[in-house]
Amino acid sequence: MIKLGVNCDHVATLRQARGERYPDPVAWALEAERAGADSITVHLREDRRHIQEHDVIALLARAQTRINLEMAVTPAMVAWALAHPPADCCLVPEKREEITTEGGLDVCGLQTRLNEVVPVLLQAGIEVSLFIDPEEQQIRAAAMTGARVVELHTGRYAEAKGTESQLRERVALQEAAQLAHGLGLRVHAGHGLHYHNVVDVAAIAPIGELNIGHAIVSRAVFTGVFEAVGTMKNLMVTGFRNRAA
Ligand code: PXP
Repeated sequence: MIKLGVNCDHVATLRQARGERYPDPVAWALEAERAGADSITVHLREDRRHIQEHDVIALLARAQTRINLEMAVTPAMVAWALAHPPADCCLVPEKREEITTEGGLDVCGLQTRLNEVVPVLLQAGIEVSLFIDPEEQQIRAAAMTGARVVELHTGRYAEAKGTESQLRERVALQEAAQLAHGLGLRVHAGHGLHYHNVVDVAAIAPIGELNIGHAIVSRAVFTGVFEAVGTMKNLMVTGFRNRAA
């Protein structure tokens, strides 16, 4: 069955907007787990704009599922992850001026650095995924780093306007997922997925996990965590069942 990783960054965004202690992303993540999240994702950004170090430390102590730490490939972040090892680590590109992660990691351009860093994280018992655009050369480069997982960036699919371009981006995801699988990589996907576009992505074999944040946190403002997480999981199950159909 396809798994749902719930990204809690934007609960922290709301807290940081006022510098208060609430809403607490850790408490929210524990509720998301009870609602059916298979893992919890947090992005510890260089500028600490939402998730703080104490959030990750508390989640590592209290979460029942896997913690997937998204982070830039900087020496400081690698050292931080080694000092506080999560189950999973997703390496992402990071720019201070961006609103959210724009585009995937340029694994081809960072090949030498990633070939060094990925084995160090793996040796510490951390499963590493690389967040990449659904492009052949990035997938082949990812396989050469020793990482066993790629997370395909679904942003282009999510932003596509009109049936034709949506179909084109979905085919790109499908081909990328199959290539990665053929190279022995496990395939995750995420970014920009919401309640109206998730079914078609969940239907792509062999994608095994979706990481979704903004849409779930936004819906939970109206409906609460249980409904928001549960409805997303049900839609993913619908998509997954379409694979066999
Ligand atoms: N996956 C990765 C690697 C991301 O950087 C993000 C955004 O933080 C997500 C998934 C979730 O994206 P969204 O918040 O649009 O669902």
